[in-house]
Parts: sequence; C-alpha cells; structure tokens
Amino acid sequence: MSKKISIVGAGMTGSTAAHWLAERELADLVLVDIVEGMPQGKALDMLEAMPIVGKDVSIVGSNDYGPTEGSDIVVITAGLPRKPGMSRDDLLTTNADIVKKATEATLKLSPDAIYIILTNPLDSMCYVAMKTGGLPRERVIGQAGILDSARMRAFVAMETGVSVENINCYVLGGHGDSMVPLTRHSNIAGIPLDEFLPKDKLDAIVERTRTGGGEIVGLLKQGSAFYAPSAAIAQMAESILKDKNLVVPASVYLQGEYGLKDIFFGVPTQLGRKGLVNVYEYTLNAAEQAALEASAAEVAKTTAELKI
Ligand code: APR
Repeated sequence: MSKKISIVGAGMTGSTAAHWLAERELADLVLVDIVEGMPQGKALDMLEAMPIVGKDVSIVGSNDYGPTEGSDIVVITAGLPRKPGMSRDDLLTTNADIVKKATEATLKLSPDAIYIILTNPLDSMCYVAMKTGGLPRERVIGQAGILDSARMRAFVAMETGVSVENINCYVLGGHGDSMVPLTRHSNIAGIPLDEFLPKDKLDAIVERTRTGGGEIVGLLKQGSAFYAPSAAIAQMAESILKDKNLVVPASVYLQGEYGLKDIFFGVPTQLGRKGLVNVYEYTLNAAEQAALEASAAEVAKTTAELKI
C-alpha cells in the first residue's frame, strides 16, 4: 500500500487505533514505542490477524523512528498518565517534552506529514507540536471533539432508542470539563434535541458528556478510555487520506474564528488531503459564546504555563 500512517505511542489508544485503521485498509501502519518489544509484538499479532479479516496491510512495530519514514500521517498518543503524587504541571511538562521529541524525530523523516495529536492535555500538546515543527496550522489537528460528541450521541441514543446514525451532536471547546456541548445545534434527524427530550434529561446528558472521560477512568480503575478515542483517530485519518472533507469537531489553531486567536481549540473542522481545510463558525447566542470563552481561558492558561 502506498500510504503510511505512523503511530507514536503503542499503548491502549495507539494500538487500538492501529486496529481500527487496519480494518479500514487505509494505509500501511507503523507503531513506535519506547517499551522494548511491545510495539513489535502488537504489530506482529495484528499482522497475523490480517489474513483472517482479509485486509492487505503491512504493520510494523519499532523502538526507533526509522520505519516511520515517508509517513502521510503521524499520530501522537505517546505520553504518561497522571500518577499518584504527580501534579498536573508535572504531567504537562513531561508530556510536552515527549510530544516535542516525537514531533522532531518524525518530521525529520516525514517532512510532509499531517499530525493528529491525542496526548493530553490535548489542546496544549497540539500547540507544542505545531510550534516545535514550525508547522502550518493545516497540518496539526487534535482529536477530542469527535470523541466528546460521540459520547453525547451515544447517551442520546440510549435515552431515545433512535439509531446513532440519526443523532448529530456537536461538542466544542477545550478537551476538559469546560467543554461546550451545543444542544441548540444538536439534533435527531434534523429535529432539535430539546423537542425530543425534556430539559432535565438533556441537562443530565450534557453533564454526563462533560464528565465522560472521568466516568470511564472511574470504572477502569487504571488507564483511561481508548476504544472511542482511537475510533475517532481512524475517522480523522480516513477523511484526510481519502480527501473526504468530512466536517467533524477537532482541536485546531484559531486565527480569529469564534473571536479567538493563538490557541488550539475544539471547533467544527473540515478535514481533507491537506489536513485542515476549513473551520466552520456557528452563530452562537450570548450564553454559548460566553461558555466557549470560559473554556478558551482555561486552555490558554494551561498552554501559557508551557512558556513556548
Ligand atoms: N516515545 C514513544 N512512546 C512513548 C514515549 C516516548 N517518548 N513515552 C511514553 N510512551 C508510550 C508508553 O510507553 C505507552 O505505551 O506511550 C504509550 C501511552 O499509552 P498508554 O499509557 O496505554 O495510554 P493511552 O491510554 O493510550 O493514552 C495515551 O492519549 O487520550 C490520551 O490522555 C491520554 O495522553 C494520553 C494518551
């Protein structure tokens, strides 16, 4: 296959993304991780599944970046989870360093790659990748909004019994508790959500969406969500490589859209072969705009702590 996607960080999210991507037969895959043998073992195991699912995909695991050469897309999921005794600031600087090194190393071998970032704190890590690589904003896209919106869609489907395919939800803003589920713009087959659901049910869905990541962490006891985040990676990569121009919420660098500048932030984006093709701007009411600005202030504060 002529296309290549490299995934840095072959942990839960990275390797599950490889799984979803292999099933889509989109590109050859490379998994890179610092843990010796792990990316090689996962890659070989997945490669051995390909005859069963009937997909012709090369999957390679590595502890160095050599095999990533010539990647069309680089996905960065590498990072440390927060451990007991570790402050949010410790995590921020540790993961920023990991994302910085991964960007430098991959960009040398794949100067035209488009970056999809997963490592948290997401919006700030996108900023690190863009600044480190001196990349145009089109080529750095953070995965968050598809996941947050998918959670909301799943909760609406659970409540209404309608197919997830008919449910459109839009969650914008920073990837954190300040995210902004736009209920007014969300709908079931075009009918506004609030005509289907009473306010108390809708409010509960919004709250569950905002805290959706924590809900999974609480259940798993160790680690965080990986199926839905990695499915979102596959959808983004497919839209880019097939030039589908899908409009999905994602974190991109804003240059005045929604009145915001110099910040990575979750907004509706159109993704095509060049990466970010367009940012869509909803007409927001005062309360929605205020909620977005509050979320942006939180993201800007975290990013400023990095002093890039
Ligand atoms: N280079 C390559 N891989 C690294 C590096 C590095 N410098 N540092 C850490 N890793 C690897 C770890 O060895 C691990 O396998 O990154 C992987 C992270 O995987 P998990 O710990 O399983 O975490 P995961 O659940 O996949 O989440 C990854 O995505 O959603 C975000 O918050 C999440 O930031 C986290 C990231």
